[in-house]
Amino acid sequence: MTNRYDEAYKESMENPEGFWAKAAEEIKWDKKWDKVLDDSNAPLYRWFAGAECNTCYNAVDRHVEEGRGDQDAIIYDSPITGRKSKTTYSELKDQVSRLAGVLKARGVEKGDRVVIYMPMIPEAAVAMLAVARLGAVHSVVFGGFASNELAVRINDAKPKVIISASCGIEPGRVIAYKPLLDGAIELSDHKPLATVIVAREEAEAELKDGYDFDYATELAKAEPADCVSVKATDPLYILYTSGTTGQPKGVVRDNGGHMVALKYNMSALYNCEPGDVYWAASDVGWVVGHSYIVYGPLLHGCTTVMFEGKPVGTPDAGVFWRMIEEYNIRVLFTAPTAFRAIKRDDPEADFLDKYDTSCLNALYLAGERTDPDTLNWAQEILKKPVVDHWWQTETGWAICANPLGLHEFEVKPGSPTKPMPGWDVQVLDDAGHPVGANTIGSIVCKLPMPPGTLPTLWEKDDLYKSKYLEEFPGFYATADAGIIDEDGYVSIMARTDDIINVAGHRLSTGGMEEVLSGHPDVAECAVIGADDKLKGQNPVGFIVLKRGVEKSNDEIIAEVVKLVREKIGAVAAFRKCVVVERLPKTRSGKILRGTMQAIADCKDYKAPGTIEDMSVLPEIDEALQSIGYSSAR
Ligand code: COA
Ligand code: AMP
Repeated sequence: MTNRYDEAYKESMENPEGFWAKAAEEIKWDKKWDKVLDDSNAPLYRWFAGAECNTCYNAVDRHVEEGRGDQDAIIYDSPITGRKSKTTYSELKDQVSRLAGVLKARGVEKGDRVVIYMPMIPEAAVAMLAVARLGAVHSVVFGGFASNELAVRINDAKPKVIISASCGIEPGRVIAYKPLLDGAIELSDHKPLATVIVAREEAEAELKDGYDFDYATELAKAEPADCVSVKATDPLYILYTSGTTGQPKGVVRDNGGHMVALKYNMSALYNCEPGDVYWAASDVGWVVGHSYIVYGPLLHGCTTVMFEGKPVGTPDAGVFWRMIEEYNIRVLFTAPTAFRAIKRDDPEADFLDKYDTSCLNALYLAGERTDPDTLNWAQEILKKPVVDHWWQTETGWAICANPLGLHEFEVKPGSPTKPMPGWDVQVLDDAGHPVGANTIGSIVCKLPMPPGTLPTLWEKDDLYKSKYLEEFPGFYATADAGIIDEDGYVSIMARTDDIINVAGHRLSTGGMEEVLSGHPDVAECAVIGADDKLKGQNPVGFIVLKRGVEKSNDEIIAEVVKLVREKIGAVAAFRKCVVVERLPKTRSGKILRGTMQAIADCKDYKAPGTIEDMSVLPEIDEALQSIGYSSAR
């Protein structure tokens, strides 16, 4: 018997243009498209070519016009500072149009870029929407990144203006953003024309006259700006994500396809109605924050929640349950690591008994694979569906999921269930041939990918093609390896590149290696992602020192740990590092990171036949044991 998922999936494969044109009826267009799918420049595809629209209009103004003006658009809860607020759609429209006016007065026009470096406060969403209102392009940089990472993004995106805040709040410390921002502008070749800074009580930002402008002062005197119509294919944002080097990739999102895809998923996947309260406990700096803190819920007329806290310790492992009860939350979306943290602190889920969480319909997890233990625990304590869904910054929304709004599939632990409508997911071997059921290979998505996925990398079409489209012609290479079983369930097993996932944060070991090699005493290095019970993975560094180094190993280790924090940011969580005499390599000089990772994780491994010298492996094992990995764990 077919279900709604089967019907939708079949239609999306047989008649993608008809399928997405129907979904597009949910969006208000200034001008309808000439073509649903423009394949004239394949393999670069464009959805809704010729259409004109404004994303901010659809996320904000439209709801005011349709009678949702008094409904809450944003709920803000900051358990560390104790601050809470609610912003209605009418208030949001007022704030967004004023901030757009401020930006316009500073010269921001359609197509210009604005970098947003903000903590989890409502002004971050206001900033994104204000940029979208002008038809400009935002690039949000996660607050946990340090000056250097921010500078790389400023240089690539070349923003006219940067919007930031005086500080971010982490448990036990206030992070002054302004010095980091100033440092980044100093480091970058591109110099923005101005900054707009939200003043927070916890830290005062020093503002340079005529260059740094106070957010509240400017907003109060601003002339509100109207929505500017853009092409559906024009960029809405650039979001930088870790690549295989220290140079992050600027993932581009368009306006039209993005709106269509997110609006569709709010009902098909998250099973939400306009007016529901939707909470993605992530950060606006990540793709989850873009799609499901800001755009998805607001496009759907839901109330979104901005939470400036942690799953544990702010103040305890009951905070998620308190939030659900207090705000009548229907959907919670977070990373598995958050649930592992709660389980660690409150294994019997005693805190849950103190709150009424019956309003919750389902829990959605992404950012890393949901391990069966965490899945089972979450299911047991919540007694609600738990959906592991797989996606990437590049795709903007889930490739595979249990689409509760269409059909609830039986869950197979460890699998994010089935491809969402629009996604033709296949597993190929190294030669590009399809493999059979349950055989591991590279997971690829047949082109064209559905709307909302990246059309390209910022100003780098060729890099987009070479990184994603050339390895398997006709397909998008996800860089994830996995299997599809006999029932069509997909399982994601590992990355095929050097990306690691630390507490749901995507990081590049290559980027960390670049920092380590920058230390004057380091001759060679390698960074791997070792299994971690809480964070999924943790980076572990190996350094080989230059001859004649006088400092102690401990001193050098402390220095490289500090260097990674300074250059990449605290979020890299780089703390474990060892000095070794040499690294395991193949005869052609390739470092055997996979073998080192297997040793760290106590997994069976077979060193490749091309290994230069087997005797190095016990040395690696011993070094790992000295920092609590390998067989010592
Ligand atoms: N600004 C500045 N610093 C930040 C930051 C931000 N926005 N976010 C994290 N950091 C810092 C932390 O303070 C910490 O610094 P420290 O080394 O001085 O302690 C470091 O980066 C690592 O942070 P984090 O990865 O959050 O680890 P943690 O040990 O503080 O907390 C968890 C562990 C599991 C509770 C936490 O990672 C968590 O809540 N994860 C959910 C992940 C998530 O939402 N991912 C988004 C994808 S859906
Ligand atoms: P990001 O771009 O930060 O969202 O990270 C994307 C990567 O995280 C994917 O390519 C996967 O390796 C991993 N990932 C995200 N969600 C899942 C999931 N549900 N299951 C397995 N891996 C996941």
